[in-house]
Amino acid sequence: MSDDYQFDQIISRKGTHSIKWEFGKTFLNNDDILPMWVADMDFPSPPAVVKAVEERARHGIYGYTGISDEYLNSVVSWMKRRHQWAVDPEEIIFINGVVPALNMMMQSFAHPGDYVVIQPPVYYPFFSVIRNNGQLPLLNTLLEGKDGYMMDFDDLEVKLKNSRTTMMILCSPHNPVGRVWNKEELLKVAELCLEHDVLLVSDEIHQDLVFEGYRHIPTATLSNEIAMNIITCTAPSKTFNMAGLQSSNIMIRDEKKRRVFSQTLERNGVFGMNPFGDVATIAAYEHGDVWLDALMAYLQGNLSYLQNFITHQLPEIKLTSPEATYLAWLDCRSLGLNKSELEKQLVEKAGVALNQGHTFGETGAGFVRLNFACPKSILEDGLERIEKALYVFSR
Ligand SMILES: Cc1ncc(COP(=O)(O)O)c(C=O)c1O
Repeated sequence: MSDDYQFDQIISRKGTHSIKWEFGKTFLNNDDILPMWVADMDFPSPPAVVKAVEERARHGIYGYTGISDEYLNSVVSWMKRRHQWAVDPEEIIFINGVVPALNMMMQSFAHPGDYVVIQPPVYYPFFSVIRNNGQLPLLNTLLEGKDGYMMDFDDLEVKLKNSRTTMMILCSPHNPVGRVWNKEELLKVAELCLEHDVLLVSDEIHQDLVFEGYRHIPTATLSNEIAMNIITCTAPSKTFNMAGLQSSNIMIRDEKKRRVFSQTLERNGVFGMNPFGDVATIAAYEHGDVWLDALMAYLQGNLSYLQNFITHQLPEIKLTSPEATYLAWLDCRSLGLNKSELEKQLVEKAGVALNQGHTFGETGAGFVRLNFACPKSILEDGLERIEKALYVFSR
């Protein structure tokens, strides 16, 4: 099935002003660097999305575009079909990105000096969103178990109990450690937030990229009482590789919170949407199921290849298999390199650009994040480069 969508085909992104391929201080000066960092994929969006954008482009008039019932219904129907989540169209607030939404949540629901709990190693913009708006990140660091990361609930309770804590940002599924939190874990987090009157923001942007054997549970489906204390961030951007179209949907059941958040959007002059994001989202959510299943099968193939390569060719590196996302969190600590040596080895000697683990929080030092959403031949190239660099320069 994957073959139908030609995930194996290498499509040059040069000239598209791609951040992954053409920007980034670490590799601007090296034409041959292989980018395996930023979280977008080197695959085209589903054919239905490409067709919808082409048709819209041919219309030629790209004026102000509103949020239609057709748009909202496509989101509602996807959440119901794929996640057994009944969302009322009224609960959805469109915004041009999850990161802008998180910034505006700080402006809506937290005061300067408040603590916001996050669980590092975690998606690094969480730190900047909090700091940019005058709040302070309060770290509930994930624990490393032998089969992957776990939450430290004793510590979480202490942090949520703190009278200066007003919000928590949960990453579910978690970037970069790849955990799909199970029902028990989600319930504990949500109940602790309720008990200590802490607003829970659940960033579920990776909700659709879950490997077989795991199931993403939208936090807001746990109970109505919990849903009233949750703001959920969703988007078709990761799932269908359309981050540049800047379309995301924030679900807020509590009418009062919705009003406060909408007022912040208004104060920031945020309204309407991009006409291409509009048609692309509708097409993706209405026609993207089969493509997504094929994508996950392809990603599973890449992940198996990566695991096998690491086991046999790079045994010093440890990979705990991600349960979701196309991001592998590689533990390179036993190479014995400090963070600048590790970066130098990978960028200058191997010629690959990966995300450095320490940027996800201090406990990420010695790790790197590798994006394996690319044609398998690119993944092979990247891994061979890493192997060569580590063999020649380090062993
Ligand atoms: C957890 C998480 N949230 C948000 C984003 C970015 O969202 P957006 O592009 O909609 O701002 C990413 C991108 O990698 C992410 O991993």
